[in-house]
Amino acid sequence: MPTAPVLVKTFVPAIISLMMVAALSACSGSDDNSSAQGNQNPDIGTDSPSVPVEPTTDSDPGNDPGSAPNNPSLPSANLLPPLPATPLSPAPGPDDEPTDVNRPVTAINRFFLVEDPPRRIEPVSAFALNDDDFNAGTPEPVISAPNGFDTTTNAAPYFDGISNREVFAGQTLEVLFRPLDDDGGLPGMFPNSLPEGASFSDNFNGTKTFRWMPLQGDVGITTITITAVDSEEPFYRSAQTILIRVNEPEDLSTIPNFPPVVNNVRNHTVRVGDPVVFELKGSDRNSTYPTVEVPNPPPGATVVPHYIFDEVTVLRFTPDEPGVVEFDVVARDADDPSLTGSSTVSTTVEAAAEFVLPGKRLRALAGERDFHLGFAALQGFYHQADGALYSDLAGLEFNLVSTENSMKWGYINPEPGTFRWADADNVIAFAKHYNQVVHGHPMIWHRQLPLWLYETPTNTLQGHMREFIDRLAQRYGDDVAIWDVVNEPIADEGGFRPSLWFNAMGEDYIDIAFRQARESDPDGILLLNEYDIAWDTPKTATLFPLLESLQQKGTPLDGVGFQLHIDAKFDLFDEVEANFQRAADMGLDIYVTELDVAITDADTTEADQANVYERILDICLRQPRCKALQLWGFTDQYSWRRGQSPLVFDAAYKPKPAYFALQRRLGED
Ligand code: XIL
Repeated sequence: MPTAPVLVKTFVPAIISLMMVAALSACSGSDDNSSAQGNQNPDIGTDSPSVPVEPTTDSDPGNDPGSAPNNPSLPSANLLPPLPATPLSPAPGPDDEPTDVNRPVTAINRFFLVEDPPRRIEPVSAFALNDDDFNAGTPEPVISAPNGFDTTTNAAPYFDGISNREVFAGQTLEVLFRPLDDDGGLPGMFPNSLPEGASFSDNFNGTKTFRWMPLQGDVGITTITITAVDSEEPFYRSAQTILIRVNEPEDLSTIPNFPPVVNNVRNHTVRVGDPVVFELKGSDRNSTYPTVEVPNPPPGATVVPHYIFDEVTVLRFTPDEPGVVEFDVVARDADDPSLTGSSTVSTTVEAAAEFVLPGKRLRALAGERDFHLGFAALQGFYHQADGALYSDLAGLEFNLVSTENSMKWGYINPEPGTFRWADADNVIAFAKHYNQVVHGHPMIWHRQLPLWLYETPTNTLQGHMREFIDRLAQRYGDDVAIWDVVNEPIADEGGFRPSLWFNAMGEDYIDIAFRQARESDPDGILLLNEYDIAWDTPKTATLFPLLESLQQKGTPLDGVGFQLHIDAKFDLFDEVEANFQRAADMGLDIYVTELDVAITDADTTEADQANVYERILDICLRQPRCKALQLWGFTDQYSWRRGQSPLVFDAAYKPKPAYFALQRRLGED
């Protein structure tokens, strides 16, 4: 197995370090410099061959005459106050520790997997409503208007005769929405969101009707919000929420029973000899779980219940010859066994030799030039039927792996005191097995957060943020070389994104997050990661001043992650090159963190896509500060933009022209 080249932090120019010291001494009021902090190059890399990060000298000092000596020390005044001794949210404990898998439930047999403790986690909505809320009446409408719009000369539209409503599960509720405007004119309207199975239809007389038959699972209080739109100014709006109380009928048989469906299972390509594992499940609108049966399993298959979830059936087999393997899945209603839904699952089996490619592997070519080529690992890829092929190809082609979803806060820590580490642990185990560097993504982001954070008092959010950064770093710091510390802080129209974090701390949250990350993982390479900043956009215009101000504050920022979710028509390569140079000139390293190139229409081809991949790689390879290029996935089978086939292997794991373009360019000087 080839080794992955060493990734090291490179440091900001001396002038900036000096400014940092000055700025920090100016603002330091604390003499608490005694707590452990991490500027002494503690033990990294030595006991962890897959992440061979070592402190070394700047890899290209000649390129940056202003570089400071490679001394990671920040002034001690830079310390944040210690984290509270009593944690703000319960710390992970032994009950959260994953355990070894010893069941035939995954498609991996190459490395050791762990699983989270068997438990069901259903985070309660932070915004759950109760009878008091219902009895308090219909909320006031929320009025919004364009900036500078004079609301005194134009009355907002409103709804006539609106009230909270009640209905029994199994009955149909109808609510008429009649928007009025005292200035005359007929306001428009639209629903902000609708519950499952509801409709909102036009009566063609200026009114619309909301119609919904809630079922068992809807019992409780829910809301709908309909927005009325001023007839003259389309952004002058009034959003009206009503509460709906769904009651359980005494006679449950009055609720219609709908047949279940089998949850979608996509078709897969696997190799002869691979362990193939399907987790099969059905759903039912009535909120019961159907049982799942496989009447015609493939020869030699085992069919067993899932080790935690009764409603999941696990089917496992090892194909021994090429061909197509098909089986049917039947979901049977929990209350009425005569009600069923079914679907057919098809798996293409090919000889292992079909996946042997010409030329050198991408990771070998990258390694020869001391470059990092990475991919984002699908969360729980080992629970996919084609997990064996997925992991072997990913191990063969890449020397760097990022975590697509498995380190996100909402997943790791869904409720205070509950931690799900197994998926991230397994990515680390995968990386160790294949000797890959790990990129931890993301520490602080405005999305995929746990619901409980939204009901956490604002003045404690800074503490929670620091605590979470510390927990990630404590657990993974030895194995993760690079961190996306702050992800997507910039709004699409420029300026700071109004997120939970920004709202709580203003722009300071960025600096604080980085300082905490440095304190908790002194040797991590710390990135600010963002999309639509590689070419000139309103976001780019915010990015560079932000980077400058962070450097002036002494924020321990090592580089910028340029996400690069683009499409095959992309042609702003000159701007990308210039913006990379701009970051490099600031002494920052560049990481292409999330490259994928969507095919968005019939006019663009895989050849166009290949060209875009090659041009981006070329820019990165010609830029000494561009340290790595990571794809956001590697097979179209599991891309978050699957419909637009944006990756370098197709859904059947066959290389696309983009693969060969990367291979060719990596092989050139
Ligand atoms: C995406 C994942 O790929 C999806 O599976 C998930 O549903 C949403 O998030 N920028 C980021 C990534 O920083 O975390 C996002 O990943 C893609 C955009």
